[in-house]
Amino acid sequence: MAVNLIVGNWKMNNDFVAAIHLTQQIGILARQADVSGVSLVVAPPTCDLRSVSSVIEADRLAIKIGAQHAYWEDGGAFTGETSIPMVKRLGCTFLIVGHSERRELFAMDDEAVAKTAMSALRHDVTPIVCVGESEEVRENGGHVEFVTAQVQAAVGGLTPAQRRDVVVAYEPIWAIGTGKVASVEQVAEMVAVIRSAWPDDAGDLTVLYGGSVKPENAAELAGTPGVDGFLVGGASLNAEQFVQIAVTAAKCYR
Ligand code: 13P
Repeated sequence: MAVNLIVGNWKMNNDFVAAIHLTQQIGILARQADVSGVSLVVAPPTCDLRSVSSVIEADRLAIKIGAQHAYWEDGGAFTGETSIPMVKRLGCTFLIVGHSERRELFAMDDEAVAKTAMSALRHDVTPIVCVGESEEVRENGGHVEFVTAQVQAAVGGLTPAQRRDVVVAYEPIWAIGTGKVASVEQVAEMVAVIRSAWPDDAGDLTVLYGGSVKPENAAELAGTPGVDGFLVGGASLNAEQFVQIAVTAAKCYR
């Protein structure tokens, strides 16, 4: 079954003190609000995972944890990297895989995305596989082909049983951190493209949208056919905004 997820990608923001504070604020606001039916996930920097999982446990907050990135090997001579079993031990049940910033700035290619997704599944961690085209690709009319290829490269090597546990996030690069939100028509088209690129029946696939999601546009985006939730960047650093997005989405999905 598709699930409704509101995921906060904190990117490289918040040290462990700020991370604890933000997690507590989100947890308290979410407890007072009606977010029934949606799961809240935060993806802090790796060095904050221990603090965030401790505060969630101590305060019994209804928040799940994701890592923003991890390496596909379980251990060994990979200086600077963190493995999936390591982040899992710190409470992560989700892993963002192949965010466009990883792909563009850290040379993560389709093969690395596929290996990372496979490794996450092997460790019972849900991969949130990010796909999305650049402005240039869209202007040249290549977005459908580009995203189709990204989806197939990421999940083509998995078994149908493994693919049932994958979440996909459509994040057009031109909408990330720019305030330029994709239109309902654009999102609906690309979510349909992702579903038709899926090697199996995509009826139960969870697809998120990401790119300048804010409380003001959350209702329209959550109401877009095929969108099951959001991957939120900037607005996830503000507890009120993040919870408001979750409340708005929850209302749409009920
Ligand atoms: P913004 O919400 O800041 O546009 O970021 C989106 C994103 O990259 C989430 O992964």
